Amino acid sequence: MSGTTKEKVLQALLALPQEAYVSGEQLATACGISRTAIWKAIQTLEQDGYDIESVRKKGYRLASSKDFVDRAHIAQHLQTKHIGQVIHYYKEVTSTQIIASDLVQQNAPHGTVVIAEAQTAGRGRMAREWDSAAGKGIWMTIILRPDLPPHQAPQFTLVAAVAVVNAMKSLYPTITPEIKWPNDILINGKKTTGILTEMIAEADRVQALLVGIGINVNQQKEHFPEELQSIATSLRMEAGEVLDRAALVAEICRYMENYSEQYVTYGFSRLKTLWEEASGTIGKNIRATTLREVLEGTAVGITEDGVLQLRLANGDVRGIYSADIEL
Ligand code: BTN
Repeated sequence: MSGTTKEKVLQALLALPQEAYVSGEQLATACGISRTAIWKAIQTLEQDGYDIESVRKKGYRLASSKDFVDRAHIAQHLQTKHIGQVIHYYKEVTSTQIIASDLVQQNAPHGTVVIAEAQTAGRGRMAREWDSAAGKGIWMTIILRPDLPPHQAPQFTLVAAVAVVNAMKSLYPTITPEIKWPNDILINGKKTTGILTEMIAEADRVQALLVGIGINVNQQKEHFPEELQSIATSLRMEAGEVLDRAALVAEICRYMENYSEQYVTYGFSRLKTLWEEASGTIGKNIRATTLREVLEGTAVGITEDGVLQLRLANGDVRGIYSADIEL
């Protein structure tokens, strides 16, 4: 069963008004394939977990539209030119970063999204594990191919963080996500999102960036491993309702496309104010643990290069390039 046939049928079912049915014949004409191919596509969709009702003389409809983050669900909300126009969707992968890295070698275009319902070896910064519960979160990697020198790659973590915060705020105005420099998004002090930017580069040019975004969306407390329960949260726990993951993916793609284009054209200066507005770090007293030392002070700003500025007790301002910070 070709992925596109199945997706065409799914798109047609998703587009139906509530309570309406579509006949096998109508589907065959709309998708330009035979009735037998339609029947096979329906069977495959059922095997994938879609609940399809089939009524004699009426046809088919989705009994319940499952909360999947597949191409058909995301496409219903997508408003971009590049990001998300190609989507590789999996029920389970080791890590979307690994799949994305293979796809780069196969010339995957700029804006390709790799997304999975579950990851068995999701990874975070500093080789930490990333808990990726099945069907509960957004586990995705966006492949970008900006024409930039390698030293500008880390800024994409900042760009992605602003994109994710503003996408969340635009869809769910009651929640208050904040960036914890450089790559976390917290709500009420607990982590909901982590961002991991990896790079494939030649000596002087970026070949591709793999912007990995992990968002806890629909977990409840008991879905998190015990050691994370006091420090992690989900959008559902904060918003008080189950959220549409596909709609959020599409909104993130929209913000990411806008902000990454601004970054490539004008540099970080255009996004600096947006970043500072979305940040929960600026103005706070923090402890920064770098590879060499532990520094305490007030986070006073971020440079055009994305370096955090820390004012120490003696008044000196130090640039922090990479660190674990505690607020
Ligand atoms: C962190 O907070 O340390 C970053 C976590 C990044 C997790 C995402 S989930 C999608 C992508 N695939 C991975 O294996 N990691 C990133």
